[in-house]
Amino acid sequence: MSKLRIFIVILAIAIYYFLIHGRCEYKGDERLDGKTVIITGANTGIGKEAAIDLARRGARVICACRSKSRGEAAVEDIKNISGNNNVVLKMLDLGSLNSIRQFAKDINAKEERLDVLINNAGLVICPNYNTTEDGFERMMGVNHLGHFLLTNLLLDLLKKSQPSRIVVVTSEAHRTLVSEMDLEDLMSEKSYSGTSGYGHSKLANILFSLELSKRLKDTSITINSLHPGAVMTDLGRHIEDYLHLPPFLLEALRWTLSIFVRDARQGAQTIICLAVDKSLQSVSGKYFADCEISRESAAARNETAAKLLWDISEKLVNLST
Ligand SMILES: NC(=O)c1ccc[n+]([C@@H]2O[C@H](COP(=O)([O-])OP(=O)(O)OC[C@H]3O[C@@H](n4cnc5c(N)ncnc54)[C@H](OP(=O)(O)O)[C@@H]3O)[C@@H](O)[C@H]2O)c1
Repeated sequence: MSKLRIFIVILAIAIYYFLIHGRCEYKGDERLDGKTVIITGANTGIGKEAAIDLARRGARVICACRSKSRGEAAVEDIKNISGNNNVVLKMLDLGSLNSIRQFAKDINAKEERLDVLINNAGLVICPNYNTTEDGFERMMGVNHLGHFLLTNLLLDLLKKSQPSRIVVVTSEAHRTLVSEMDLEDLMSEKSYSGTSGYGHSKLANILFSLELSKRLKDTSITINSLHPGAVMTDLGRHIEDYLHLPPFLLEALRWTLSIFVRDARQGAQTIICLAVDKSLQSVSGKYFADCEISRESAAARNETAAKLLWDISEKLVNLST
């Protein structure tokens, strides 16, 4: 996709969501005292705002981040803003199976319970093909496979803490950037573009939620996915690098976008809703936007693809070992 097209697509999506969805606010006042929440990528953007809100509700919040310095600074902010000191940083790089296994081992050994797991961390539209430590295409590796392994390794603790919830942050990009899951070329080795790589990883998030909801149907663990809206965060850093615009044009783009897109606090509302809303206690396997059930693409409802993706993912991350 040309740089001009990416520029126009970003602006068009932002304006579309502004006109169709406007802003949303979760109003529920549920408390989370005595509950434990893990949020991946909680050092900035939507994840950090969700962490602040859930800490305000009294939860023990574990911020799962890959950078010690950024993570420590965020934890200090979250404590100060929420007034809750029970906020901790644990190191997690979703681009490393080894790091994920160490993180899960530490959580399973030290934490009494896990009430809400929020799979939020993500990378968007990396312009150049890149791989994780284990050789996976980077967006598929971090956005889908990393969270796939993490969730599976924490399932026993979630079961012990039932009723518990898994919240998966995906994107409308699952619909706008791809038409179906390319299971033949999950790592985009045959053909790569930043946009389709991102779209596939976000479609994989929903298919994972669909398949896991079926596997958990006899438990009181729910799993739902959500689109947070078009949100002004650090997520666009790779796109900005790729567009390579002169600084004044980049500022103009940021300013124009800021009129139409949500801020990170507004972007966190559907995560918070899925994490705490009592009326959703037994709702599972659904896709949400603006704190309401929404309709995912036909490709995201494909149960056969969901099962196949699960089987492939299980082998890729060596789940059985
Ligand atoms: N912003 C939007 O308009 C939008 C729209 C639809 C969906 N989403 C989804 O919302 C989620 C949050 O995005 P955001 O907008 O808040 O973006 P963001 O501000 O860039 O935050 C992304 C977070 O993910 C972390 N992360 C990236 N790679 C990681 C890795 N290998 N291991 C652990 N953490 C990693 C980042 O850590 P570092 O700071 O260390 O890089 C950061 O904390 C993503 O899943 C994204 O796909 C966002």
